[in-house]
Amino acid sequence: MAVRRLAETQPESFAFSPDNHAWAEREIAKFPEGRQASAVIALLWRAQEQEGWITKPAIEQVAEMLSMPTIRVLEVATFYTMFHLEPVGAKAHVQVCGTTPCMLRGAGDIIQVCRRRIHAEPHHRSADGAFSWEEVECLGACVNAPMVQVFKDTYEDLTPESFEAVLDAFDRGEMPIPGPQNGRRHSVPINGLTSLTEIDYSDAAAKPMAASAEPAEAEAASVAEAEPELLAAAPEEGADDLQRISGVGPNLESLLNAMGIYTFAQIAAWTPQNIAWVDNRLKFKGRIDRDDWLGQARRFAAETSGK
Ligand code: FES
Repeated sequence: MAVRRLAETQPESFAFSPDNHAWAEREIAKFPEGRQASAVIALLWRAQEQEGWITKPAIEQVAEMLSMPTIRVLEVATFYTMFHLEPVGAKAHVQVCGTTPCMLRGAGDIIQVCRRRIHAEPHHRSADGAFSWEEVECLGACVNAPMVQVFKDTYEDLTPESFEAVLDAFDRGEMPIPGPQNGRRHSVPINGLTSLTEIDYSDAAAKPMAASAEPAEAEAASVAEAEPELLAAAPEEGADDLQRISGVGPNLESLLNAMGIYTFAQIAAWTPQNIAWVDNRLKFKGRIDRDDWLGQARRFAAETSGK
C-alpha cells in the first residue's frame, strides 16, 4: 500500500453544511464528557461525504470540534484507507483489495481493468474525472474474493467482465446492486451445500442452522410488504430535496419520485412493512435501515414543518 499523505493542493477552508453540523453535534453528544474523541471517525466520514475527500482544513475543523490535537485526527485519517486524502472520481472511487485471497482469485485482472479504463496509475483520476482507483489491503470480504469497494458498498465475486459491467453502471449514473456479482447470495455456496448435507433441512427443528447463513434475508422475508402512502405527483408546494438524506443520490431520488415518494413526511411515516415494500423495489435491501432514512427524514420533516 502506498504511503498515505495529505494532498499537496488543499482548499483554504472547510465548514460542515448546517445540516451536517447539526448532525455532528448530535453525534458528539452521544459520548460522555471527556470522550468526544470517540466521534472522530463518524465526523471524518461525514466530512468526506460532504466534500468527496478529506482535506487538511476538514481535519483541523474536526480536531477543533472534538478538542483533539490535530495530529491525532491526522493519524486516524491517514491510517484508514476508507478516508480519501485527495480528490477522487466523481462517479466512483474503486478500492481494489489486493491482499492474498483476492490476489489468488484474480484481483490482478481487476487491477488491469482499472489501469486500462481509469488510469495507468492508482490515485489518479480518469481523463473525464469520473473515476479513480487504488489498491487497498483486505476489506473483510475474502470469502467472496476478488472484490472491490466503491464508497460504502462492496462488489464481490468479480470477474473482469462483471467488474466492467459495474463500472459501466456507475458511468451511466446508476447505482449497481452491491454484493456478489455472480448470482450467489451472500457467501452461500453457489452450487448448493457442500457440507452438513446429511441434515434434513425440511425438519423445522433443524432449520435454525440453515437460516443462520442468511439471517438478514430471513428477517426481511418475515416482514410482509405493504405499499406506503404514494403521491401521483409532487405536492404543489414542491417536492422535498430527498438528496439531503445521506445515502440518497440523484438516481435514488429519481427512483423514489417515480414511485410516488416526494416528501420527508412520507418517508418518516414508513412502517417496517412499508420499508420492505420500498426495499424490494430499490433492490438495495437493508440500505434504508443502514443509513437511517427514517431518522433523517423525521428531522428534515420537522424542520420543513417549522417545528
Ligand atoms: S483478501 Fe480481499 S477482502 Fe480479504
